[in-house]
Amino acid sequence: MSFYGPPREQLGEVASNLLQVEKVYQQHGLSAFMHDNLIAFMRNEHFVRDQPFVTALLANADGETDAAKIWRLHTCCWAARSALGIEGDFVECGTYKGFYAGVMTQYLQFMTLPRQFYLYDSFAGLPEQWSTDLEREQANPGYQWDGVYQDVIDRFGHMPNVQVVKGIVPDVFDTVMPDRIAFLHLDLNAGAAETAALDRLLPRLSDGAMVVLDDFGRLEQRELCQAHVEWWRAHDHSVLELPTGQGLVTYRKPTA
Ligand SMILES: C[S@@+](CC[C@H](N)C(=O)[O-])C[C@H]1O[C@@H](n2cnc3c(N)ncnc32)[C@H](O)[C@@H]1O
Repeated sequence: MSFYGPPREQLGEVASNLLQVEKVYQQHGLSAFMHDNLIAFMRNEHFVRDQPFVTALLANADGETDAAKIWRLHTCCWAARSALGIEGDFVECGTYKGFYAGVMTQYLQFMTLPRQFYLYDSFAGLPEQWSTDLEREQANPGYQWDGVYQDVIDRFGHMPNVQVVKGIVPDVFDTVMPDRIAFLHLDLNAGAAETAALDRLLPRLSDGAMVVLDDFGRLEQRELCQAHVEWWRAHDHSVLELPTGQGLVTYRKPTA
């Protein structure tokens, strides 16, 4: 169980009440999903029986908070696998320690595929020019620690087709950027940076490309959500908000 929002001293009470609820469902052989600020009763949760997925999740999770993101990772793995039918490479903007990328690459056995996976991150947190004070307050300094870049290089060192690219999004695209993109995961926790990334990457998105927005539905990211709503509307698309807090778009190239 992993929840956030109310003051820490009240979360204990919330958790113990939820445990009682979970017990009632379990007594009747019914499922109760309660993780990552998502409560869902009586869902099939078929992904927990997908052994390669669960193995990849547990092999890459650094503790309970990562493992609790199972439903978000299911979304990513589903979208990434769906993108295998689309021409192009894979891109993640916002990699941090490489948890999501680790799960997806292991699940898809990415190193056996004739594609590249580009992982972009400053490896120094949200830069001032592409984030608001509030976004930096919420996210930094969690993402600012020495050694994370080298750790990520080491983590993917055995996969020659995974490129770890250090730099500020979107400026870093001047150094390296794939020609065609089949899968895009945006997880920068900053609306301006994510829409600026889309401005640069849009011409390279293949028809049918899968785009996953990690923070679109999160209440504390209202401004990011609004930035995406407006950006996608201006490009004749809309975002599917998922109960996981993610957003999902299937990109369709405009017909001439
Ligand atoms: C939420 S974390 C990413 C989590 C990651 N997807 C995972 O698997 O755990 C956000 C990351 O985005 C990076 N970031 C935020 N804004 C950025 C920008 N404009 N350019 C490059 N990196 C940025 C931060 O350094 C941080 O590592």
